[in-house]
Amino acid sequence: MVAVTTSFKDVKPQGRLTVQTIEIGAQTTAIRCLDWDRDRFDIEFGLRNGTTYNSFLIQGEKTALIDTSHRKFQQLYWQKLTKLIDLSALDYLIISHTEPDHSGLVKELLQLAPQVTVVAAKVAIQFLDDMVHHPFPSLIVKNGDRLDLGNGHELEFVSAPNLHWPDTIFTYDRKTRILFTCDAFGMHYCDDRVFDEEPDLIAADFKYYYDCLMAANARSVLSAIKRIEKLDIAAIATGHGPLLQHYLSDWVNRYQQWSQAQAKAETLVALFYCQGYGWSDQLAHAIARGIHRSGVAVELVNLSSAELYEVKEVVNLARGLVIGMPPQSNDNARAALSTILAAAHHKQAIGLFETGGGEDEPIYPLRNKFQEIGLCEAFPPLLIKEPPTLQTEQICDEAGTDIGQLLTRERTIKEIKALDNDLERALGRLSNGLYIITAQKAGVKSAMLASWVMQASMSPLGVAIAVAKDRAIESLLQLGDRFVLNVLGEDNYQSLMKHFLKRFPPGADRFAGIKTYCASNGCPILADALAYMECQVTSRMECSDHWIVYGSVQTGRVAKLHALTAVHHRKVGNHY
Ligand SMILES: Cc1cc2nc3c(=O)[nH]c(=O)nc-3n(C[C@H](O)[C@H](O)[C@H](O)COP(=O)(O)O)c2cc1C
Repeated sequence: MVAVTTSFKDVKPQGRLTVQTIEIGAQTTAIRCLDWDRDRFDIEFGLRNGTTYNSFLIQGEKTALIDTSHRKFQQLYWQKLTKLIDLSALDYLIISHTEPDHSGLVKELLQLAPQVTVVAAKVAIQFLDDMVHHPFPSLIVKNGDRLDLGNGHELEFVSAPNLHWPDTIFTYDRKTRILFTCDAFGMHYCDDRVFDEEPDLIAADFKYYYDCLMAANARSVLSAIKRIEKLDIAAIATGHGPLLQHYLSDWVNRYQQWSQAQAKAETLVALFYCQGYGWSDQLAHAIARGIHRSGVAVELVNLSSAELYEVKEVVNLARGLVIGMPPQSNDNARAALSTILAAAHHKQAIGLFETGGGEDEPIYPLRNKFQEIGLCEAFPPLLIKEPPTLQTEQICDEAGTDIGQLLTRERTIKEIKALDNDLERALGRLSNGLYIITAQKAGVKSAMLASWVMQASMSPLGVAIAVAKDRAIESLLQLGDRFVLNVLGEDNYQSLMKHFLKRFPPGADRFAGIKTYCASNGCPILADALAYMECQVTSRMECSDHWIVYGSVQTGRVAKLHALTAVHHRKVGNHY
């Protein structure tokens, strides 16, 4: 791998929205918009370290801008860009995909520079037509197409559908050997460092981003990696976070290994949605995250553009089907629904959701048809009519986990039964107390009964909890999140335990009928708890099927000084 020359032209001024312009290769400048405080993406995808929106300018004999930025950078972005280039001299705008965080300034750019030819995949141009509402020069590119900017900057386009939008293309510059990938290989990490010189700092964010955005398209990730393998790549210029150069092959290998594991998973859910219609893609991604959390692979399929043979193939492979209702007027989607119905069989699980587009196919007649074929319903139809909120996304996430758990139940029981008897009994001698963990984030509350809890540090005081990856509360226990550890008393634990062990439908209020009051960190304290501690998650360790969530303890209280903690004695070690 050859190092790409880096020279700073501009340094970040003080402030929480800043822009950095850096030469990353011959006649190639990165314009990095640093959003230091952004703490939420796709509503439910919490960010810990802000994010960046990276756009790139290549100045050969002709000039090309790759992507723009988020609208919130409007002023700062134009200031920087117009210092680099006279907009009337810009020849091309390459759109890697049409998501607003990268294309938020496209409409304005086309007003400021109407001569610009927009270069993008066919689907992206159609999408932009609807967004811009007036004609603009365009060039549709397919996989392998080339565009010569002169001075050796011959660009080659690589089609990378579903990474993570269906219209994604990568751009490879033969002169600098930089591959521009937009969302793929990115991460939400805001830092002045332009490149990946500190891999340990960013590895967790790289994985988190993959899990949230790419895991649901593992097969597409593998196809894209196959396509870029033949390119001699010096650096990957991503649309979010640091650019990848120092450990390039390592990052690509990680994507490959994670995706191979997904693609090989025995259990797959096919999740059909309609890109650009209502809130279909947002909701589909929230459901996909819930499914992924339960250890089941997901394949997202866009009903508007999928070929019918692909639809049939994925239905045949899948053990579960989730469908977001497409608009009634979409012929491709209607044909795809017929294909799904024809290929579905009684051994599959099904879940349906409305997408809030206003003209959805009616959900109940479709549900009846699946029931007639004998599919088992994994969750009741999700009727979403309003723009999604954190609550809606939590409901979708939990619905995803429900279908995942339904499909893995048999396997889990088999694994439990397979445990050696002696070992099982030995493990059963580990005993703990009984606790209710409660958490709250942006109005979404959750709770779970836990016994795998212990004090984990003295100074500062800290506790650790083992949280199964598919617990509903897991998404509220990310780094920085707050929770309350409620300790149950031995004289008063049974009714609370029974209540919190109920099977709650997606989005149910787990505190209905339970007396609570609000902790200073915003989480519910159970009025009947023996003691409570207010905590904040400061680290998480991945342990196979559980996360060890470590929280620093900020404050706490005991209700009854002389009462004892409820202790949970187990006979066997193969369940809690
Ligand atoms: C005695 C007992 C102790 C438990 N301890 C834990 C625990 O420490 N960690 C965990 O993830 N689940 C634990 N569970 C399982 C969850 O409490 C329970 O399955 C959960 O509330 C279901 O919630 P969900 O809808 O979020 O999956 C325990 C269950 C029991 C019966």
